[in-house]
Amino acid sequence: MAMSHLLLILALLSALVLTSSAANGSMLTQSGTISGNQTLDSPSNAFQLGLFAASNRSRWFLGIWFAVSPDTVVWVANRDRPLTSPSGVVELSGGGALVLRDAATNDTVWSSSNSSSSSSAAAVAVVGAVVAELRDTGNLVLTDAAGAVLWQSFEHPTNTFLPEMRVGKSIRTGADWSLSSWRGADDPSPGDFRYVMDTSGSPELYIWSHGRKTYRTGPWNGVRFSGIPEMTTFSDMFDFQFTATADEVSYMFRNRDGSPMSRVLLNESGVMQRMVWDQASGAWSNFWSGPRDQCDGYAKCGAFGVCSVVDAVVCGCITGFAPRSVAEWYMRNTSGGCARRTPLQCGDGDGFYVLRGVKLPDTHSSAVDPGASLQECARRCLATCSCTAYSAADIRGGGSGCIQWFGDLVDTRFVDDGQDLYVRLAKSELDVPKNTRKFVAVIALVVTGFTLLLLSLAFVIWRKARRSKKVNTLDDAAELMSGECPTYPLGVIRTATKGFCADSEIGRGGFGIVYKGQLPDGQQVAVKKLSAENTAQGLNEFMNEVVLIAKLQHRNLVRLLGCCVHCSERMLVYEYMSNKSLDAFIFDEKRRASLSWKTRLDVILGIARGVLYLHRDSRLNIIHRDLKAANVLLDADMVAKISDFGIARLFSSSADRQETITRTIIGTYGYMAPEYAMDGTVSFMQDVYSFGVLLLEIVSGRKNQRSFNLIAHAWGLWEGGRSHDLMDPAIRGGCTAGELEQAATCVQVALLCVQECPSQRPPMADVIPMLSQQKAPARPRRPVVCTPMMSSSHPAAAAAAALAAQAEITGGNGDLTITSLEGR
Ligand SMILES: *[C@@H]1O[C@H](CO)[C@@H](O)[C@H](O)[C@H]1NC(C)=O
Ligand SMILES: *[C@@H]1O[C@H](CO)[C@@H](O)[C@H](O)[C@H]1NC(C)=O
Ligand SMILES: *[C@@H]1O[C@H](CO)[C@@H](O)[C@H](O)[C@H]1NC(C)=O
Ligand SMILES: *[C@@H]1O[C@H](CO)[C@@H](O)[C@H](O)[C@H]1NC(C)=O
Ligand SMILES: *[C@@H]1O[C@H](CO)[C@@H](O)[C@H](O)[C@H]1NC(C)=O
Ligand SMILES: *[C@@H]1O[C@H](CO)[C@@H](O)[C@H](O)[C@H]1NC(C)=O
Ligand SMILES: *[C@@H]1O[C@H](CO)[C@@H](O)[C@H](O)[C@H]1NC(C)=O
Repeated sequence: MAMSHLLLILALLSALVLTSSAANGSMLTQSGTISGNQTLDSPSNAFQLGLFAASNRSRWFLGIWFAVSPDTVVWVANRDRPLTSPSGVVELSGGGALVLRDAATNDTVWSSSNSSSSSSAAAVAVVGAVVAELRDTGNLVLTDAAGAVLWQSFEHPTNTFLPEMRVGKSIRTGADWSLSSWRGADDPSPGDFRYVMDTSGSPELYIWSHGRKTYRTGPWNGVRFSGIPEMTTFSDMFDFQFTATADEVSYMFRNRDGSPMSRVLLNESGVMQRMVWDQASGAWSNFWSGPRDQCDGYAKCGAFGVCSVVDAVVCGCITGFAPRSVAEWYMRNTSGGCARRTPLQCGDGDGFYVLRGVKLPDTHSSAVDPGASLQECARRCLATCSCTAYSAADIRGGGSGCIQWFGDLVDTRFVDDGQDLYVRLAKSELDVPKNTRKFVAVIALVVTGFTLLLLSLAFVIWRKARRSKKVNTLDDAAELMSGECPTYPLGVIRTATKGFCADSEIGRGGFGIVYKGQLPDGQQVAVKKLSAENTAQGLNEFMNEVVLIAKLQHRNLVRLLGCCVHCSERMLVYEYMSNKSLDAFIFDEKRRASLSWKTRLDVILGIARGVLYLHRDSRLNIIHRDLKAANVLLDADMVAKISDFGIARLFSSSADRQETITRTIIGTYGYMAPEYAMDGTVSFMQDVYSFGVLLLEIVSGRKNQRSFNLIAHAWGLWEGGRSHDLMDPAIRGGCTAGELEQAATCVQVALLCVQECPSQRPPMADVIPMLSQQKAPARPRRPVVCTPMMSSSHPAAAAAAALAAQAEITGGNGDLTITSLEGR
């Protein structure tokens, strides 16, 4: 009797032990359950599965979360059917499915067999007992005794994408591995956003909301998604893998050994966030999110538009296209996009324009041939009348494969390190008028950096080879130049700069390196050595600069002493400016205080006189086009000297003086006039705009940049009658009332200079009398960059400002921008 009792107790005990170990290990067996606060822990305890509460503990869900961060739920089973109390029991059903049962009502709230795609589970015959296991990847897997996977949570993602997990589609089974956002921070039911693979054309991932795309990653280009250049910078932490076979199209990433835990989340606002666990702070750090900016908004600039985040006006048209409705574009409604200026000829009458550095347009209806070469791709595109563009499918090894687009090019934007898109145009669009510069170019992105020169300019040039009567060889260049300025032998320059040694280096920019040197006669010089890459670009810039500067003589322009050409090396020799550039003063914490208001005003007037000389008095009528603090040098007596004429534009025929459209958009973020950033309209007013920004920077000692809109800030202060508050705090204290008054005048003049509408900006000849208080400046209007564009909060203000600008353009001077836009 006692024996049988003992046996019974032992049997009960062992059953208890079995049950409890089944409930808190990484495995759940047929006999086990999980309920209440019990969890299934992955073998190394990275993830846990269990019940969690939302909405003040009024709704309960079965989920998987990071053990170190229990609030970070990565997967939810019963998203649509919450339990009302922690009464859920997780168990394996007799049929081998994992089920969540409500113990209170005995209802099955969720079952893995319901969420498995029809074909996959049914195809597998279950062998023996089924176990559920939570693996260290965060994957909950059901296997049978033979080890066959019956079901896994990684094939049923919710809002989180974990390492080793795939997003995409199985072509074979029809399974769709896509993410869907939560409805709210406290509500895991499926929300408005989905992250889906578009398998048509060249595959790409996109975010989908309310029946339309809101963001695309761009197609996979062999290395990364075309629109996410940042992926390259993460390659030390993650291994990205893209699969496109007849069976499946999918994307996944793995954490490299030793890299921290990470996840990618589609959040409730429809933003993809790559989060990385920071062990030190015990929190998630947001590494990347997309869409990043307004240019990532799907089809922001409409068909054949191209988006660039360089200024307030982000949309432009691809070369050869013009806004479909100019009036709407002035209203900043760019969704209508652009239309072709010259119809395609279909055949030999067409050619290709290279749009460099972009995220490729929507590939949904593109055709892809990974085997074709780029040349073959061009040939095929020309042979098909409906083909509008082509590009390489894989960028590795100089580019291979072929993507062809047939209709509108939608959602194209400039990105760092972007790809080349070959856009089909009628040949007449590709031919460049004789009096303009003989190459066609397109801006890539202007990158702001904190290098010595603070800014580096990245742009790419496509040169027309066919009609080139231009200087093609260095011999030609040397010949042309010898008449323009004295040349120095290379030996002299080399000795002067101590063989271009690193110690002599005083600056570095987009065009090359600047060295300090000493000529045999003791004179100090600055030698600008142009970079050897981009020969075409370098040569054009070089010629432009030499020809222009050699003819210019003004106290406020830096003087070119000579030049030196040797093989592929091209150098310019300038007088040396011992105080370097203005930005090294006004944006420097220590040195700014040494620049008194009186000196600043002298610098301002000096720059104004230099620009006026360029515009009017030099008889050459030059537009500088890249006026900025880094391009203003200061000599030993703090006299301002404008430098860097590499991209200046010469207007010798007065007929062409007013305005013209350039295909070369070059400039620096923050200083670029909106009409120029938008459609490349070049005029003297472009320099006036940059001067206005520079003026505000000199007064305030602050930089106009993405993170701080100096113009809006200055407007706010001016409007409130507190202009003198803009004055650099480093010198404000020591200023007299009269000086503060002068600063306030400068602010008002600057605000006039940065008016959105070019015709409202004062010509440089008027600026100087205004600054020296001989002429009263007009009242500026609110700059458009201050009004939130397209925002529902102030639609009236934005519309009014845009309307005013438009009326001014059409009414004021008949043949301004509008005619120019349609003229070519
Ligand atoms: C399971 O639970 C028991 C008692 O609650 C505990 O002693 C044991 O360490 C747990 N096992 C695991 C693997 O967590
Ligand atoms: C789990 O629940 C039991 C009883 O419901 C309770 O005694 C125990 O403290 C709970 N454990 C935790 C970690 O909340
Ligand atoms: C949650 O519960 C707390 C205390 O019970 C209460 O103060 C709070 O208003 C509740 N919040 C919601 C959203 O119901
Ligand atoms: C719950 O349902 C199972 C089968 O679905 C049944 O065997 C069991 O008796 C039910 N229990 C209660 C309390 O209704
Ligand atoms: C599973 O699917 C069947 C049929 O579609 C449905 O009747 C049942 O309610 C579902 N069960 C759960 C737990 O969703
Ligand atoms: C989604 O992510 C973006 C970008 O990181 C963030 O600004 C936003 O607040 C997030 N939304 C929610 C609901 O967390
Ligand atoms: C923008 O322009 C499109 C047509 O190009 C038009 O359908 C749409 O209503 C306009 N939107 C606004 C806000 O004016």
